[in-house]
Amino acid sequence: MTDTPTVLVVDFGAQYAQLIARRVREAKVFSEIVANDLTAAEYAAKNPAAIIFSGGPASVNVNGAPVIDPGIYDLGVPILGICYGAQLIAKQLGGTVSRFEAGEYGRTAMHVHPGGRLLAGQPAEQNVWMSHFDCISEVPDGFTVTASTINAPVAAFESDHICGVQYHPEVSHTPFGQQVLERWLDVSGIARTWTMANVIDDQIAAVRAQVGSGRAICGLSGGVDSAVAAALVHEAIGAQLTCVFVDTGLMRKNEGEQVVETFQKTQGIELIHVRAGDEFFAKLAGVTEPEAKRKAIGELFIRLFERAAGGIEDARFLVQGTLYPDVIESGSKHASTIKSHHNVGGLPEDMDFELVEPLRDLFKDEVRAVGSALGLPDEIVWRQPFPGPGLGVRIIGEVTPDKVAILQDADLIVREELHRAGLDRQIWQSFAVLPDIRAVGVMGDERTYGYPCIIRAVTSEDAMTADWARIPYEVLETMSSRIINEVPGINRVAYDITSKPPGTIEWE
Ligand code: XMP
Repeated sequence: MTDTPTVLVVDFGAQYAQLIARRVREAKVFSEIVANDLTAAEYAAKNPAAIIFSGGPASVNVNGAPVIDPGIYDLGVPILGICYGAQLIAKQLGGTVSRFEAGEYGRTAMHVHPGGRLLAGQPAEQNVWMSHFDCISEVPDGFTVTASTINAPVAAFESDHICGVQYHPEVSHTPFGQQVLERWLDVSGIARTWTMANVIDDQIAAVRAQVGSGRAICGLSGGVDSAVAAALVHEAIGAQLTCVFVDTGLMRKNEGEQVVETFQKTQGIELIHVRAGDEFFAKLAGVTEPEAKRKAIGELFIRLFERAAGGIEDARFLVQGTLYPDVIESGSKHASTIKSHHNVGGLPEDMDFELVEPLRDLFKDEVRAVGSALGLPDEIVWRQPFPGPGLGVRIIGEVTPDKVAILQDADLIVREELHRAGLDRQIWQSFAVLPDIRAVGVMGDERTYGYPCIIRAVTSEDAMTADWARIPYEVLETMSSRIINEVPGINRVAYDITSKPPGTIEWE
């Protein structure tokens, strides 16, 4: 994003940095997260239009608390400090941060003083979201206090080009928070023009420059990231791109066909469709242990992918749907390797390709917006995360074609009913699991002996933690009766009410 004005978000160790970056982008300014230990010259070299210091869990008065090169204040670049970031500015520029009688956590009433620039036009009395114990008791010379609360005499302060807020404007619980960020961008003179249309144009140009007249391949997993990456690269280089879709036979009902339909028929992308269900079932025969199953699926997947890719002569570039959170997690913006958790167990490291990663600056919701703008259907753009080994880890015990067919039918009913209830976009993942046990039941006059099926539906932000979704009883009831009536082989339905931790999202 070379010519785009960029706001750097300096990360002081809270989970808020990503949220701040996303909010700045929602205000139509590109932003990226940077570490707090660069020198002022290194920050300057990134040519920021403005800089935000994020919150953080430490106290600025504790030894070893993160600081920033004070040279940053002399760069003349507008700076906004949030929570810890605000306290750090106060302390480093000669103010005082002290421990007051009480901290403030959660919704807090704040009074805005007249005359400030940042909070101009906002209600004098408003609620903000706080999370601090220390507070700024004296602002540095040249600063004025522009808001306060009962326990924070300095809830906001500013000088000519530096501002700080003790509260969290980035969280949705601060009603005027987004307005603060937008106002700050405006008073900092930053044009708010970054849109998904610009992103697409920039990335098309970048991909063309990188690939030239070369050939690129892209492994489609059926997931959102590889789908959007492929669509974008296809827009840039057309027939120089070939996609490889290794169809394991372990996808959800109709999803394999939909990948082929969308890419080959609608988007006109050259697609090698490796129909490998039989090979996967042969390899999985008699395998019951979860890790052994994952390994078997992963190895075969790679072999088939390599075989298909090897048939594409002169392919030098590998398109990957790496996203911004993957880049941040891998620690360095420049050192991305072939995504280790990509698809089934990752592609081998010795594959000799140059990576093309057109989504590496984007968050998931932005990737979805790009996908929609490129004409991908909602079924793909809003697809839930799906494990590379697919239904192989949702069938406990041996995986057979019969069990996959049963599970696909039950799983489709779960999806259909959540969609009908309008709940699908609030739920992170929802699916059915087929355990390796049988239960006795009675249907009509007949005793049955069939599989139970377990419905799993979770809410989550990032899959690191998750909670079971409070699906209304009526929706669960419809799912249960439809599954039992419509899926031969299943005679009982249970709902998994385990959070993560202690459970995982998947069953294997
Ligand atoms: P767990 O079950 O560990 O899953 O709570 C966390 C998230 O990761 C997904 N998952 C996978 N994704 N390959 C993937 O690409 C895999 O082998 C794999 N295993 C689990 C899971 O669906 C959830 O979103």
